[in-house]
Amino acid sequence: MSTRNTIILAAGKGTRMKSKLYKVLHQVCGRAMVDHVLTQVEKTDMDQVVTVVGYGAEKVEETLGDRTKYVLQKEQLGTGHAVLQTEPLLKDQEGTTLVVSGDTPLFQAETFEKLFKYHEAKKAVATILTSKAPDPTGYGRIVRNDIGIVEKIVEQKDATKEEQEIDEINTGVYVFDNQALFKALHQTSNNNAQGEYYLTDVIQILKEQGDIVAAYRMNDFEESMGVNDRIALSKATKVMQRRINEAHMRNGVTLINPEDTYIDVDIKIGADTIIEPGVLLKGKTVIGEDCFIGAHSELHDAILHDHVTVTSSYLEDSEMDTGSNIGPMSHLRPDSHIGKNVHLGNFVEVKKSTIDEGTKVGHLTYVGNAHLGKRINVGCGVVFVNYDGAHKHDTTVGDDAFIGSNSNLVAPLSVADHSFIAAGSTITDEVNQYDMAIARARQTNKAGYFKKLPYDPEK
Ligand code: UD1
Ligand code: CA
Repeated sequence: MSTRNTIILAAGKGTRMKSKLYKVLHQVCGRAMVDHVLTQVEKTDMDQVVTVVGYGAEKVEETLGDRTKYVLQKEQLGTGHAVLQTEPLLKDQEGTTLVVSGDTPLFQAETFEKLFKYHEAKKAVATILTSKAPDPTGYGRIVRNDIGIVEKIVEQKDATKEEQEIDEINTGVYVFDNQALFKALHQTSNNNAQGEYYLTDVIQILKEQGDIVAAYRMNDFEESMGVNDRIALSKATKVMQRRINEAHMRNGVTLINPEDTYIDVDIKIGADTIIEPGVLLKGKTVIGEDCFIGAHSELHDAILHDHVTVTSSYLEDSEMDTGSNIGPMSHLRPDSHIGKNVHLGNFVEVKKSTIDEGTKVGHLTYVGNAHLGKRINVGCGVVFVNYDGAHKHDTTVGDDAFIGSNSNLVAPLSVADHSFIAAGSTITDEVNQYDMAIARARQTNKAGYFKKLPYDPEK
């Protein structure tokens, strides 16, 4: 039976990244580069996927999970050596094998499919995916003879001056006849500038034994970009971001300035939502229809239902129901649930709290470990005092309560529905239904005292 296999090369350290993090785990728009590659491979018709791991093997396996098989390349002796590690799993299979690097995050499944088709049409033993690079420096070059037939791939460091002029590059993606691949790999040597076993040498070996080697040139160089350093990482991120943003705009989302809007791969946004410049949408954030996300807001794993307005605010792992709004300059910390039509104004911090329908928290307020009922009015500068230095305590406030400005609600505390807390109170005891609680010193006025004070407005 003819099978289709994929080998993903992900064992390298990525020295040029100058990083503690292994290269293929660097993220592009919220997803590790190697995960981007695997995601596209998964969209391609495939029988089995094997990932070659080495540096950071555990971390790579943790990132990709059981979506792929793994083989370990103990020593990083080159891309040819890396592919050879998969021999025990693949050598007996009849069929074709796609080889792709974990550091080329922009490839799309359709391109892999086109490559397979071309390979089959040419009845080739190997087909190289190539592209024309505006600056080919660093890539392997495709050397063709006078009539345009591929002869070999030469690496940058092994290339003659003339070969360095070639702008057709090896994208690092190939399709091979599976068994021919492993046979040829045994004939490679490390007699080259980098002392490595190059996968690219397989091309010349196959040519010399009379096999058909084809090259399929894709039009879009950007898609084939390899990421070896942080400059390429930023370029790849730009390309991916443009793709993501254009997909959202095609789905009916307005991005005022897409060049300055940063949306991770997995984010969902409903139609007619408007997103202003400088916004970051991260993780598993989901945004409904007709929302407004104002300039410089940042949302991590937030869920917004329809008609929600976020003005220059920071939201983490929280949910906002239909018609609610927040900001400017407010902060939703993890595990907060904001009900329908709730208004959270400026400089409001909410942590691990639920706030029910129609409640208003307008200004300069901290709500922590609390449950607020419906239609409550929380005045300006209220503090839910939830921490005694050792433990966090809960506060509940019932429906239709009124919390006057500059009050402290010292937890654990329960404030009943339809109760009223006078401004400036520090509340430590339970407040019952229909109570008005007032907890502050009485005012005394000393007549004429102004004149005895050293204060003199004339001076
Ligand atoms: C490679 C190609 C080059 C091509 C370029 C495209 C070779 C010899 N060169 O160069 O022709 O233009 O990709 O992006 O293949 N890896 C291992 N084990 C190793 C060495 C590398 O698993 O021993 C993995 C790396 O993690 C990486 C991939 O193979 O994901 C490519 O290795 P890298 O060192 O980045 O090769 P390039 O120099 O970019
Ligand atoms: Ca590379």
